[in-house]
Parts: sequence; structure tokens; C-alpha cells
Amino acid sequence: MLADKDRIFRNLYGLHDWGIAGARRRGSWDATAAILAKGRDAIINEIKASGLRGRGGAGFPSGLKWSFMPKQSDGRPQYLVVNADESEPGTCKDREIMRHDPHLLVEGCLIAGFAMGAQVGYIYVRGEFIREREHLEAAVEEAYAQRLLGTNTVHGYDFDLHVHHGAGAYICGEETALLESLEGKKGQPRLKPPFPANVGLYGCPTTVNNVETIAVVPDIMRRGAAWFSSLGRPNNTGTKLYCISGHVENPCTVEEVMGVPLRELIDRHAGGVRGGWNNLLAVIPGGSSMPLVPAAQCETLPMDFDGCLSVKSSLGTAAVIVMDKSTDIIRAMARISYFYKHESCGQCTPCREGMGWMWRVLTRMAEGRAQRREIDMLFEVTRQIEGHTICAFGDGAAWPVQGLLRHFRGEIERRIDEYTARAQSRPVSEAAE
Ligand SMILES: Cc1cc2nc3c(=O)[nH]c(=O)nc-3n(C[C@H](O)[C@H](O)[C@H](O)COP(=O)(O)O)c2cc1C
Ligand code: SF4
Repeated sequence: MLADKDRIFRNLYGLHDWGIAGARRRGSWDATAAILAKGRDAIINEIKASGLRGRGGAGFPSGLKWSFMPKQSDGRPQYLVVNADESEPGTCKDREIMRHDPHLLVEGCLIAGFAMGAQVGYIYVRGEFIREREHLEAAVEEAYAQRLLGTNTVHGYDFDLHVHHGAGAYICGEETALLESLEGKKGQPRLKPPFPANVGLYGCPTTVNNVETIAVVPDIMRRGAAWFSSLGRPNNTGTKLYCISGHVENPCTVEEVMGVPLRELIDRHAGGVRGGWNNLLAVIPGGSSMPLVPAAQCETLPMDFDGCLSVKSSLGTAAVIVMDKSTDIIRAMARISYFYKHESCGQCTPCREGMGWMWRVLTRMAEGRAQRREIDMLFEVTRQIEGHTICAFGDGAAWPVQGLLRHFRGEIERRIDEYTARAQSRPVSEAAE
């Protein structure tokens, strides 16, 4: 279990002052000038050595990502953009940072912005997050008032930070759709390459990072890479915010050490599975885009990148969605497909057409009103979507269906057989009605 001394998020539940006075008492803005004085390369190297991987879903190494930004400006400004869109179903961690400890993020923006040569940062906040935006804006104002942001700062680095409110579209969490939206256009993903580090916001070098990724940076710089990398295991280091929802006694968001066993996470922090551990059917470990993991594989599963990969799933956003045996798993996956059908931006044919197709087939399968051969056909369609679209939305919509087919094929077949048997046993006159 994570020791209190190793916690980064010390006001996760909003029990203390979220303003700058409270944040300073928890260590924020302490000797920030000394961190910046180390220089750009030293900060990037420290982040690389810490093993920090992006907390937005893909787990890309953060120090490496920052190093893609040009060392010498070609005259274009460079930007840091923070992804605070947090729309992945089940995920509710970034909002806790923004409303209860916003200075972690604001100070993180300054340090990360400095390290990547950006003098302007934007935080793109999910449209539905009103209170979160208000706290964040207040924190930014406090930082300006104390000359921690803006020009002529106390630490000598000029950096402007803007909070931008989205309009509430899931796809605007995809980094290039977010940039389009920030530029005032329709939020539709861009084809890559070019990557944002070369051509990002307003055509300028840009790095997009998740809120949690940036919020842990000041602590890594203060306590050192060795401290951060001592938590967890190689390739999966540090602490992590886990959001546990669904059929548990006490849904919660909690900071734990990376790699905490899934059962321990659920039992210790969320009060256990409703009806006891044996009542568990399956868990989605990383938000709705990730394949489910059946109960048999959950008990000792280390909740980190490699652990989730070993059971053909992914840590994603670490949003743990627990489903007990009362769940109609086919209907649940059909509902997730409906979400993706609704949120597809429509640019790519496999995504635009495939989402509705998968939802309709799954809806029939939930009733058993399908044919066995359609199971393989459905799988084939997911394979035709995966990797064949402009953005990773297509993959994230295909994976939950693949997880269902991998682990609950027997249940789908059972329903189809039962439905077929019922249909065949009906009198001809009734069947014709
Ligand atoms: C459909 C889709 C939705 C996404 N939504 C979010 C989101 O809400 N928040 C987020 O941080 N990253 C989201 N991402 C990932 C971002 O594109 C990007 O990889 C991430 O912000 C990078 O930050 P990191 O390196 O700190 O993880 C999404 C990706 C896709 C494909
Ligand atoms: S995969 Fe879907 S959401 Fe992404 S660009 Fe294509 S149509 Fe839009």
C-alpha cells in the first residue's frame, strides 16, 4: 500500500484549502526557481530517469515526448497544451486534481513548459467541468498575482497560461481534435504525421499532455527521479490515480502505487465487490475503450501497463469498472458500442459505419436474435476497424467488443441457441405473426 509520505495528491478529497496558501503548505511552489535553474535538458533527463509515462491513456514516456520539441526555435512559438477533457467513461481523476489541488497542475505547466521551450500553455477543460474550471482559473489568477506566471516573474521565466473551456465532445480528448477545437474549428482529429511536436497548435511545435502527467512533475523534480522510480516496477513506475466504479461497495478515486494488485485495490479502497469477490464477473481496467478482463484473471493482476497487457487489456486511464454477476455482459458491451456510435466524428468510413453496425449486431446478440456465424463476422469487422482509421478512437471502440468475444463467446452462443430453440418450438401460426 502507498505510504502517506509518498503521496503526491495530498488534497485529493478536497478536505483542505485548494488555494495557493494551502498548496504552498503542501509543498507546491517551493523553490520553483531552483528547479528551473537546472535547465531544460536536466529537467527532461530527470523526467526520463523517473520513468514517468503519460497518464492520458497511451502511456507514452513523457520525458522522451518532451525531447521531440525543437531545441532551437525557428521563430515559431512553442506550446504546451494540457488535455483536461477527461471524457473516457469511468474516468474521474483529472477533475479531482483541478478542483482540489489545481496548483499542482499550474506549477507543473510552468516547469513542463519551460523544459520544452514553451512560453504559452493552454489547459483544455471538458465542457461539463464547471467547478473544476472555476478553481483552475482562480489558481491561475493567484499564480499571476504572485508573479509565478506572466512576465517579470519571481523565478525569471516568462510563461502565460490560459484555461480554455471545451463544449463537451468525447473526441476532443484526442490530442489533434483538441488542437482543432482550441483553434476554434470543429473538433475532428488530424491525420498524423505531421505530429504535434512539429506542427501542432496554430501550426507550431506543441506537446499535449494529460492533467495527471503534468501534475506529478513538480514532485518528481523536488523529490528526485530515484524516488519516483523506486515506486512500482521497471517500466511501470510511480504513483497512480485509480478510479473505481461499478458494482463495488464504495466507488472512489484513490492514489496508489503503480502495480497494486487489482483485488487489493477493490477490496481495500472500494469496500469490495458487491456480494463478495466470488460475485465478480469481469472488470474493465482502464476505461471503456479497453478490453474487459474476466474474474478468473483479476485476483492477482498487477494494475500497471505491463500487467494489463499480459491479460490482453490495457491500463488506459486506470478507470476500473467492476461488473458483478448481475451484469448482462453482452448488453453492457452493446451500450458501450452505442456510446462510440454517438461520439464518432464521422471522418473515416470504418469508424462511422462500423460503430453503428457493431452496436446493432450486439443489440441483437444480447437478445439471442442472431446466428452463430455472425460472431466471427463481428470479430472480423472489429479487425477491419482496428488500425484502419485516422485516430485511435476506432481501436478503442473495437477493443471492448473483442474482449467480449474472447471471453464470453460461450454466453453469446448460449443465447443464440436458446433463442433459436424457442423460435423453432413456437407453433407455425405464432411464428408467422
Ligand atoms: C478518442 C480519444 C479520446 C481521448 N481522450 C483523452 C482525454 O480525455 N484526456 C487525455 O488526457 N487523453 C485523451 N486521449 C489521449 C490523447 O490523445 C493524448 O494521447 C494524451 O492527452 C497525451 O497525454 P499523455 O502523454 O500525458 O498521456 C484520447 C485519445 C483518443 C484516441
Ligand atoms: S476514427 Fe472515428 S473518431 Fe477518429 S477520426 Fe476517424 S471517424 Fe473520427
